[in-house]
Amino acid sequence: MISVKLSAKCWKIPVARLALVIVMAVQSLGAGWVQEPVQPRIDEEFAKQEKIYHRRGTRSYTANRGLTNYAEVLPAGFCAALGRLGSSDRWLDIGAGEGQAILDYYTPQGDAAPEKCGGSGPKARAVAISIEDRRTDKWQNRAASLGDDRIRYLSGKRLSQYSLEELGKFRLITDVYGGFTYTENLSRFVDKVLSLLEIGGAFYTVLPAVHLEDGTDKLGAWYKTELVDAASRPVKVCSWLRQTTCAKISCESKTDWDEPTQLIKIHKVCSGVSVPRTNLVEYMAGAPPGRRFQLEP
Ligand SMILES: C[S@@+](CC[C@H](N)C(=O)[O-])C[C@H]1O[C@@H](n2cnc3c(N)ncnc32)[C@H](O)[C@@H]1O
Repeated sequence: MISVKLSAKCWKIPVARLALVIVMAVQSLGAGWVQEPVQPRIDEEFAKQEKIYHRRGTRSYTANRGLTNYAEVLPAGFCAALGRLGSSDRWLDIGAGEGQAILDYYTPQGDAAPEKCGGSGPKARAVAISIEDRRTDKWQNRAASLGDDRIRYLSGKRLSQYSLEELGKFRLITDVYGGFTYTENLSRFVDKVLSLLEIGGAFYTVLPAVHLEDGTDKLGAWYKTELVDAASRPVKVCSWLRQTTCAKISCESKTDWDEPTQLIKIHKVCSGVSVPRTNLVEYMAGAPPGRRFQLEP
C-alpha cells in the first residue's frame, strides 16, 4: 500500500499510471520477494527522454549553471576540494551542459574580486561530458586559447559508454542535475563513477525530489527517484549507497528547498568497489525523469 500512496503523490500521472502502480502493489503484496515487473512501454518513455535532451531554447532544461551555482547545490567542501587540485590533477563534470562551471573555474580572477570557488591557484585539467553537444562560442574560444587540452568537452554518448582508456582517472568528479539524476541504471552509473575516481578522490553530487536520509521530508512532497528493496519496501538512496564497499558516503539533507534534496559526497577509499545492483522498474520521461529502482536481493 505504501507504494500506491507514494507513487500517486509523486508523479502527475493520472489513471493509467495509478492502475499500473496498483497492479504492481497487489503483485508485490502477494509475491513477497518476487521482483517488480518492468513498466510496459518503457521504451516510449526513453524515446521521449531522448527528445528532452535535444530540446533547445525556452523548452530546454537549465544547462548553464556556473561555478557559484555548483557551490550552492553541491555538498560542503566542494570548493575547497576544487581549490586543492594541482595542475596535473583532473576534474570530470558529468552532465556538464554548456560547461559553464568549468569556464568559470578557468576565468582569471581580478585583484578586487572576492575569493572564488576553487581559489585562484593552479588549475586542474577539466573534462565536461554531456549527451548532447551544448558547447557555446565561449567554450570554443576558451578551449582554443588555453590549448593543450586543458579543458575538453565530450558528447554523443552517456557516461557508461566510455571506457577507462578513453577517459582516464580523476581526482574530483561532479554531477549537478546530470547523469545521477537522469540515468536509467543507477548502480551501473555509480559503479562507473567510482571506477574513474582515483583512490582518495571524491564524487560530489545532488539528487532532487528524493526521500531524505534523515526523514525530514515535508508532508506532501513529490518524489522523482524512488528505491525499493527486493520485498518492495522503500529504501533511502543514502542507505543504499552506504552498502557500497570501499566508499565513504556523506549525505546532507535539504528540507527547505523546493523539493527534498539530498547532497551526496562519495569518497573512494580503496580499490575493491562493489555497488549493490539496482534494476529499473519504472521510468517517466521528464526534466528530470521519474524513476523507480528495485534493489537485487
Ligand atoms: C539539466 S542538464 C544540467 C547541466 C549542468 N550540470 C547545469 O547544472 O547547468 C543535464 C545534463 O546531464 C547530461 N546527462 C544526462 N544523463 C547523462 C549521462 N548518463 N551521461 C552523461 N551526461 C548525461 C545531459 O546531456 C545534460 O548535459
